Amino acid sequence: MKVTVVGAGAVGASCAEYIAIKNFASEVVLLDIKEGYAEGKAMDLMQTASLNGFDTKITGTTNDYSKTANSNICVITSGIPRKPGMTREELIGINAGIVKTVSSNLIAHSPNTIIIVVSNPMDTMTYLVHKTTGLPKNRIIGMGGALDSARFKYRLAEALGAPISDVDGMVIGGHSDKGMVPLTRLATRNSVPVSEFISEERLTQVKEDTKVGGATLTKLLGTSAWYAPGAAVSGLVQAIACDLQKIYPCSALLEGEFGLSDLCIGVPVVLGKNGIERIVEIDLDDAEKAHLVESAAGVQKTNGLLEL
Ligand code: 2OP
Repeated sequence: MKVTVVGAGAVGASCAEYIAIKNFASEVVLLDIKEGYAEGKAMDLMQTASLNGFDTKITGTTNDYSKTANSNICVITSGIPRKPGMTREELIGINAGIVKTVSSNLIAHSPNTIIIVVSNPMDTMTYLVHKTTGLPKNRIIGMGGALDSARFKYRLAEALGAPISDVDGMVIGGHSDKGMVPLTRLATRNSVPVSEFISEERLTQVKEDTKVGGATLTKLLGTSAWYAPGAAVSGLVQAIACDLQKIYPCSALLEGEFGLSDLCIGVPVVLGKNGIERIVEIDLDDAEKAHLVESAAGVQKTNGLLEL
């Protein structure tokens, strides 16, 4: 199993590290345009192998896509991250050009690859990859919901005073401060609805804190987060590489599901060896449906800025 991660910045390197630590891939190639940078990150990570007990071989390359040839899964993290006060949507101008070039270079060397898009604005970048590569829709996946759901579970556990392992919950919708739809109604603490333990008011606070999860970190760090994004990507990569048939909310091309079409947005999907094995069309209540439709309108608006 060969995995390429494009972009050896904080998210890309942390993603490579988590993939290696989980020890399911034979090879991870890190690629970056900055001279020597990916090679340096790869060497540093390889020097943790004996300490962390993994056998995955991590190599780095400065923009040589021939080194990525025959990758089973490619992750695109390249582009600029947001700075405090910026929305993810503001990154579209620079990142669209980068994502277009990177995806076509990857496919030229790995025509059968599955692509995971992380670059922001992620739902629009995922749609761009659909529009420009012509890959089948099961092989293009946007990573946002897995991260947003991890942040949701963190906030839920905090509010409940419970261990995170006791908490389950999912965030669907666009990967943006306004677009996320945390499904509080379906969130549970060991199978018991969380509303049994905390007030509606506290749940609304959890929802709001979840939606600005990335922005809160960007303000604290001065740049966008990397540990949780890297861990979330590694989860998707593992689900595909090991054919786990696991459900994650991911940005997927919709063709009528949830009453939406011609956009990529976060919905629950089953991930396995073919990438998106299927979209799980869960029943939403009226408020959740309205929120998803509003979120979709926001994503469509950003998609409208693409020069296709
Ligand atoms: C986030 O931290 C990277 O968009 C990403 O939310």
